Amino acid sequence: MNPILEQIRFMRKIVGFGRLMRMRKKHSLGLGYARGYVTTICLWSLLNTGLLDELREKGAVNLAEFADRNNLDLAALESVCEYLDGLRVLRFEQGVCSLQKRGTTLMEEPRGLFDLLYGYEPVFRDLEPLLRKIKTYGKDITRRGEAVAKGSGELGRQLPFLAVRELVFSNGFRRVLDLGCGDLEFLFLLCENPEIICYGIDNDAATVEYARKRLKEANLAHRITIEQGNMFAVKEAAQKFRDVDAITAIDVFHEYLSNGTDTISFFLRTVKRHFPDASLVVAEFFKLPQSWLRRIPTVTLEHHLFHSLTNQVILPIGEWVKLFESSGYQVVEKKLLHAIGHGYFVLK
Ligand SMILES: C[S@@+](CC[C@H](N)C(=O)[O-])C[C@H]1O[C@@H](n2cnc3c(N)ncnc32)[C@H](O)[C@@H]1O
Repeated sequence: MNPILEQIRFMRKIVGFGRLMRMRKKHSLGLGYARGYVTTICLWSLLNTGLLDELREKGAVNLAEFADRNNLDLAALESVCEYLDGLRVLRFEQGVCSLQKRGTTLMEEPRGLFDLLYGYEPVFRDLEPLLRKIKTYGKDITRRGEAVAKGSGELGRQLPFLAVRELVFSNGFRRVLDLGCGDLEFLFLLCENPEIICYGIDNDAATVEYARKRLKEANLAHRITIEQGNMFAVKEAAQKFRDVDAITAIDVFHEYLSNGTDTISFFLRTVKRHFPDASLVVAEFFKLPQSWLRRIPTVTLEHHLFHSLTNQVILPIGEWVKLFESSGYQVVEKKLLHAIGHGYFVLK
């Protein structure tokens, strides 16, 4: 008899056919979630050790040679590659590794998702102490600023930055100050218009260092100036960046709403006073109702989760508009993308 058939008969005898089938269905549900966790961690480890990028560049890599060159444990590396081979992400055969189609796809648009999530990994690692009130976000746990900037840059250029850029281009803005500029990806996109000059400020040292490195590589230092600075120092910014006709802020304001809207409202009023002629172009995520996400469980689910765990408040769309209008600005243009829960506003 076929040995597999024999095994099925044996299992049916000891467990019963109906129960066996029900168990299989339930396990496959659980495995989907567990596998997502294991796969994500394996991908992070291969991204951080540089293997995935080398596979993209070279096509095939000898693992023993790679482990030796990067001082890695070959046996552990082989185990990870064997696992991902089983999931058809990689092909690992006779010591040589390459990307399968699925792996190549993961390294394209979805890569930003893995990078962004890696930025929040310290929060998920400490989720239980956070729940038990043993640790607090901001005091005992912090996200990785550089990975957050990298991930939001990678994801941003796929859609949100194009939306903001469209508003900048269509309004004819030429001198742009970007608050919380992250890895500069948005300003690189703006610079595709040769008439635009940009300034970026960000208060995170690691992010600014990373952005400076990218600026050098992009050969755009004559068009973009970046500095480490606090956007709340509005008066100083107005002296330095006197000539800007637009101030952009992509996904920055929500970081300051945990104690209500007063901080951002005061900030907006100060900006209006010191930059009376500049328009503000703001992109912010907006809260989607639970009933909506139950029907359409987009990536907004994860986005809402890691923002709320890190005290970043995402307002419903109506409250964003109320905040802008009560702070002295008129919303002259508004575009919403419910698919990603992101809104774009030109304020004057
Ligand atoms: C979610 S990230 C968005 C980065 C970038 N705008 C993008 O969309 O890719 C928020 C950025 O704002 C920066 N930031 C937060 N508070 C800031 C402040 N007070 N002054 C300047 N930058 C700030 C953070 O360091 C981070 O790079």
